[in-house]
This record gives sequence, structure tokens and C-alpha cells, in this order.
Amino acid sequence: MYLVLFGPPGAGKGTQAKRLEAAYHLVQLSTGDMLRAEVASGSTLGIKVKDIMKTGELLPDALIVDMISGRIDAADAKAGFILDGFPRTIPQARALDAMLEGKGLKLNRVIELRADDEAMVERITGRFSCVSCGANYHEKFNSTKVAGVCDACGGARFDRRADDTAETVRARLQAYHDQTAPLISYFEKKGNLLSIDGMAAIDDVTRQLREVLD
Ligand code: AP5
Repeated sequence: MYLVLFGPPGAGKGTQAKRLEAAYHLVQLSTGDMLRAEVASGSTLGIKVKDIMKTGELLPDALIVDMISGRIDAADAKAGFILDGFPRTIPQARALDAMLEGKGLKLNRVIELRADDEAMVERITGRFSCVSCGANYHEKFNSTKVAGVCDACGGARFDRRADDTAETVRARLQAYHDQTAPLISYFEKKGNLLSIDGMAAIDDVTRQLREVLD
């Protein structure tokens, strides 16, 4: 199965992609996670993108397309993948179409998680993750079962993303409305878009997704 999950920052793409990954034996391909790994490693690419990511602006299409194209070819993506955070512009969507056509693959579903801007600011500014295993949490909506201890690995150190400030979230939301929202009509015309209520509770969103995918 080949899926695209898209929606504004904080809509729950990463949270739901992790759950679908486990349920359907797919691999999550998150361009945001790949870029953050480059930044953390101090690679040439990481140094190039670090400051742009802090502003909340999108990175150049060519750079992103290059990065994801190599990743789609990796062995672990052969059985199926969930694209999280890509495509994010019309040129990226066209590049994805060409890439998949060249590999003889076809997207099964493009799923939009609909969400309200103000709620996304609250979700993102309350997000934190485990330094050891990367598990994602939220202070109010999805906290650890035991305070200060990661449910997944027992780690006790947590971190916040450099671009998760209220100011940067607003810039990221603006970039979403200007550059990513036009993908809704792009995929509608292709006939494979499904829209899900991303404002529901985390388990309810998963239930809606599983109903559609099962
Ligand atoms: P990226 O990492 O993709 O960030 P984003 O799209 O802004 O999305 P987020 O990861 O912040 O949100 P999410 O929807 O995954 O929400 P999550 O599940 O974590 O991109 C970062 C940057 O990289 C971009 O700004 C850009 O610079 C660059 N970039 C990346 N891809 C690019 C591309 N293709 N082209 C150009 N540039 C690119 O949930 C958020 C929080 O809410 C969590 O704490 C979670 O626990 C909680 N939560 C989730 N769902 C719910 C719910 N239903 N109810 C209550 N709380 C919930």
C-alpha cells in the first residue's frame, strides 16, 4: 500500500503515520524527520537547511525531491510506505507522480487530516519527544503514563523541536495555506483524495483511518 498523509502542522500526520506503520507493516517516510536527522548529524545538507527550518519556511522543491527519491528506492520501502510531509507543493506532487510512474507504482490513497489553525498552535507548542527513541507526546493530549518516563523505552530525557515555538508555528501554518493547501484540489481531480477529521481525539482519528484503509 502506498499512502500520502497530509495536513497542517500539528494535524497528527506523524502520530497517525506511526500507528499505520505498525498496523499495516508499512514504512513511514517523513521528510521532516529526515531533515532533522541531517541537522543533528551536522551533514552538509543539515547545515544548509537548519536556519530555514527554524523560520518555518519550506525548503526548495529540488532538494526535497532528491532526498525522497533515494529513500523510496530503499529496501524497507518496497513493501509499501506512508509519505508524511511530502508532497507539500504542486511541483513536489508532480515530481512524485513522475517518480512513481517511473517505478511502476501507484498511490492507493491520499489522506488529508483537516484541522483548525488555533488548535494546531496549542498542539505543537505542547509537543515533546523522547531523546532516546523519538516517541512523541503532548503535555495535555498525550502525556507519558508515568511523569518523566517514556512509555516506549523507559527513557527519562525529553526534547522539543527548534521550530515548535508559537511564532514559527504561525509561519508554518501560513506556508501550509499558501503552498500546500492547493494540493487538495490537485488530488481531488485525480480522484484519490480522502478527507478525515483531524480534530477528533487521537484514537478516533486512528479508527477513521483504519475504517478507510481496511
Ligand atoms: P515537518 O516535520 O513535516 O512538520 P509539520 O508538517 O509542520 O508537521 P508536524 O510534524 O509539526 O506535525 P504533525 O502533523 O506530524 O503532528 P504530530 O502528529 O506530531 O516539517 C518541518 C519543516 O521541515 C518544515 O517547516 C519545512 O521547513 C521542512 N520540510 C519538511 N518537509 C518538507 C517538504 N516536503 N518541502 C519543503 N520543506 C519541507 O502531532 C502534534 C502534537 O499534537 C503531538 O504532541 C501529538 O501528541 C498531538 N496530537 C496529534 N494528534 C492529536 C489529536 N488528534 N488530538 C490531540 N492531540 C494530538
